[in-house]
Amino acid sequence: MIPQAAPQWRVARFRGEINAAVASVLGGHGYILGSAVAGFETYFATYSGSEHCVGVASGTDALALALRALGVGLGDEVILPALTFAGSAQAVLQCGAQPRFVDVDPRTRCIDPAAAADAVNPRTAAIMPVHLFGHPADMPTLMALAVRHRLAVVEDCAQSHGATLDGRPLGTFGHAAAYSFYPTKNLGCVGDGGAVVTNDAGLAERVRSLRNYGFAQGERISRTLGFNSRLDEIQAAILAALLPYLDAANAERRAIAARYRSALTDFPDLGLPPDHGGSVYHQFALTHPDRDGLMNHLALAGIGSAVHYAPGLHRHPAFYENADGRLPVTEALSQTLLSLPIQPEVAGDHAERISAAVVTFAAMAR
Ligand SMILES: Cc1ncc(COP(=O)(O)O)c(C=O)c1O
Repeated sequence: MIPQAAPQWRVARFRGEINAAVASVLGGHGYILGSAVAGFETYFATYSGSEHCVGVASGTDALALALRALGVGLGDEVILPALTFAGSAQAVLQCGAQPRFVDVDPRTRCIDPAAAADAVNPRTAAIMPVHLFGHPADMPTLMALAVRHRLAVVEDCAQSHGATLDGRPLGTFGHAAAYSFYPTKNLGCVGDGGAVVTNDAGLAERVRSLRNYGFAQGERISRTLGFNSRLDEIQAAILAALLPYLDAANAERRAIAARYRSALTDFPDLGLPPDHGGSVYHQFALTHPDRDGLMNHLALAGIGSAVHYAPGLHRHPAFYENADGRLPVTEALSQTLLSLPIQPEVAGDHAERISAAVVTFAAMAR
């Protein structure tokens, strides 16, 4: 069976580096906010093109703490796409604000800037574009909208480590960006982890305080509401050990996507992801009108696939009250999207077998 994703295969590939990273923490003397977290923060800030990086406990916390540090809270609304992982919207609820879901662009599968513009109202405090599947959202248009209405922008980069738009790293367009290091991410640890990056020193300082009980740097006095949301030393050491290999892994993902694309172009029922040189293909998500049939067909051929995401967040009970209006593109995509394996350790040797199985189904269903 070829799994849809297998983070343990990446761990096996880099076992030596990971063992050395863990050993360095065990042999050190600071297990919380020590030298591994500080070292990774410096390294990841540089990698992601931002001046500051603050390691936190998860991608969801990174979003929530960035929003809080930007002053988003009770009575505010945050505009975000309905087609994303639940954590994006949970982060909004966690900081006391309400998510305002809007539709996505059928081509990019990312937030539709026109829909975002229509959703702005006096309560809107922020926009949270999600670079879904590693593909860039239309940041220039969204930033123009944000400037026009004085809105904060937090980029959800949980799926876009290393991705670029017009040569500029994603996560450097907005006021802050949030990363997840969940094990299946392009850069993943062996547990939970996340980070906020920003060029705003004051914002970074507020996130540092929020992640650590509201303490100011070097003090143990709570200056504000705070949380225990620190990136773990062991995870930080592992992330620093894996980061040197991220660009090569993203290149492998692009190469696998190109192999899929060349095998799958001529089938009218198949909708392929947009071909964008800056994408890092966190997922290779195609569409087919009989998505469930395709998924079953692949499973019978020993190939795992996954649905990202169904239903849209506007249909999750936790978020019902924010579900005004129709979101036809999200509805259609949530019924037709299917993610093929794309993790290099999983798909690298099998892309032709996987695309051949898709072709058989697409030709049959034609
Ligand atoms: C787009 C998106 N946003 C937010 C998150 C939340 O990250 P975490 O699971 O680290 O809390 C994830 C992934 O899990 C995600 O894919």
